[in-house]
Amino acid sequence: MTFRNALNLLRPYHKRTTIIILLALAISAISAVTPFINRNIIDKGLLQGDVRLVATFVLLLLTLQIGGQFIEYLQRRQEVNISNDLDKRLKTEAFEHGLKLKPTYFKEQGFYNRISDALYDITKIMSIANSSLLTIFVIMCKCIGAMVGLIILDWRLSVFVAGILPVKILINAKIRKRAEQYSEQAMEDNKDYNSWLSNILTGITDIKLWNLRVKFTSEYQEHVQTINDSSKRLTLLNSKNNFLSNALEYGLMNALYILGALLIVGNRLTFGGLTAFISFTAYVFSPVNIIMDVRIILKQITPSVEALKRFHELEEEDCTGSKSMPERLSTIEFRDVSVSFDGREIIKDLNFKINRGEKVAIAGDNGSGKTTIVNLLLRLYEPTKGEILVDGTPIGEYSTEEFRRKFSVVSQDIHLFRGTVKENITFDKTAEIAYNQDARLKFCTEVIESWDKGYETPVGNDGTKLSGGERQKIALLRALRRKAEILVLDEATSSYDKASDAEFNRYIRECTDYGFYFIVTHRKDILPHMDKVLEL
Ligand SMILES: Nc1ncnc2c1ncn2[C@@H]1O[C@H](COP(=O)(O)OP(=O)(O)OP(=O)(O)O)[C@@H](O)[C@H]1O
Ligand SMILES: [Mg+2]
Repeated sequence: MTFRNALNLLRPYHKRTTIIILLALAISAISAVTPFINRNIIDKGLLQGDVRLVATFVLLLLTLQIGGQFIEYLQRRQEVNISNDLDKRLKTEAFEHGLKLKPTYFKEQGFYNRISDALYDITKIMSIANSSLLTIFVIMCKCIGAMVGLIILDWRLSVFVAGILPVKILINAKIRKRAEQYSEQAMEDNKDYNSWLSNILTGITDIKLWNLRVKFTSEYQEHVQTINDSSKRLTLLNSKNNFLSNALEYGLMNALYILGALLIVGNRLTFGGLTAFISFTAYVFSPVNIIMDVRIILKQITPSVEALKRFHELEEEDCTGSKSMPERLSTIEFRDVSVSFDGREIIKDLNFKINRGEKVAIAGDNGSGKTTIVNLLLRLYEPTKGEILVDGTPIGEYSTEEFRRKFSVVSQDIHLFRGTVKENITFDKTAEIAYNQDARLKFCTEVIESWDKGYETPVGNDGTKLSGGERQKIALLRALRRKAEILVLDEATSSYDKASDAEFNRYIRECTDYGFYFIVTHRKDILPHMDKVLEL
């Protein structure tokens, strides 16, 4: 992370940054003038006993000081606006990119972790904005103004002050290097911790069932210890930096009194001149400290900037596609399709062709690859070998969004979003539901309509307030509401009672709403109603 990268982020805010720079120039002009006023107060006012002159200059000084503070407030307001906006922009971009990523990226590292890591990195990066990246402009201007002031006042003392700067820079460079190492470690530790925590907490029921509380509490303690240790190292590093910088500065300031005394005795400097000189030195040094601190902060966020860059380089699904999909599909074909996971071949040279109107059952033992076929069809997995064609075109050539719109799906792992039954079926708070008019689906709607709140019943987080069969019925209603071309049901009725299952079988047998039917099932009673059975 360099200053240039940081400045690139600010490019869209050129109007605001211009205002900030102008305000910065005003502030630096004020700080370049005030030490000279101080000098006059002392030399021409206090030492000559001219109270009126002191009063006049003090009034002037006060006006400038309060004006300066007000300008700093205005400038801070602009900064906060920029940093808020930048935060929102970076996070939204990352979130959207995360949602568009190819599903293959989530095989090893869960989806939640990928996104939350990226958001963590952004928060880290934004810490720089909040620690006033833009203040650097102001401070640099102040610093330059003060340097000019120093030279005007006394060049000999200025040379002395300038001699201290390289020592400071040297100390700082050493600390910067270490800050980057420590931050990288801290980032790794934090991400490990997050991934551990999200994995543990989703298993809270099993923690209770298997008495894992003590085990996980002790693991938790270790994680927290690791994180605290790495943040302690960073804090101590910053304190060490402060200690060294301050020691150096105190040495310098006190040396200035002695050198200044020598110059005053030799009539080469006035009292007021020395006071002004010391104020200017403070103006030069506090900016140098801040600029150096910011460089340390920049180093600290370097690992996050790089991680975020890698995240943005991950490939997205192709949402546009080179071919548009036919309105009415006629064939779906798997041609020599093989899939391996971690070197283990799950599906080998699978070949089949389905014509419009055909109902296909996919049957087989646990782990035989039924869900994998569904995932291949939905482009959630990619074949290791072979091709999947829809109407003779490899499905990779269609836009994924347009392609998936052709499907009505109930997956084996249903997810219900927090909200009501209706919201989960329609994804729309204002939509009307008219399922009670579709008598064929009574086996799904009956139970929902028997509830006091009916479709307005809240489902809880991931449908925890509902039974397994109820969840599956809502998922089926959701799928059937979208009258797409291809119906895919992966063990969609595994929790149904006997009566509902019989009704479901009848529905599938009589249904003519879809062009293609893929029904994954363990149950044999539906097989006679199907045109084809893919036995794995
Ligand atoms: N993302 C993945 N990474 C690694 N292995 C996977 C992945 N997805 C599936 N597998 C493996 O592929 C095999 C087939 O899984 P799949 O889910 O297709 O089985 P299934 O036939 O649907 O089984 P079930 O009847 O239990 O639902 C399993 O052995 C599983 O471990
Ligand atoms: Mg399965």
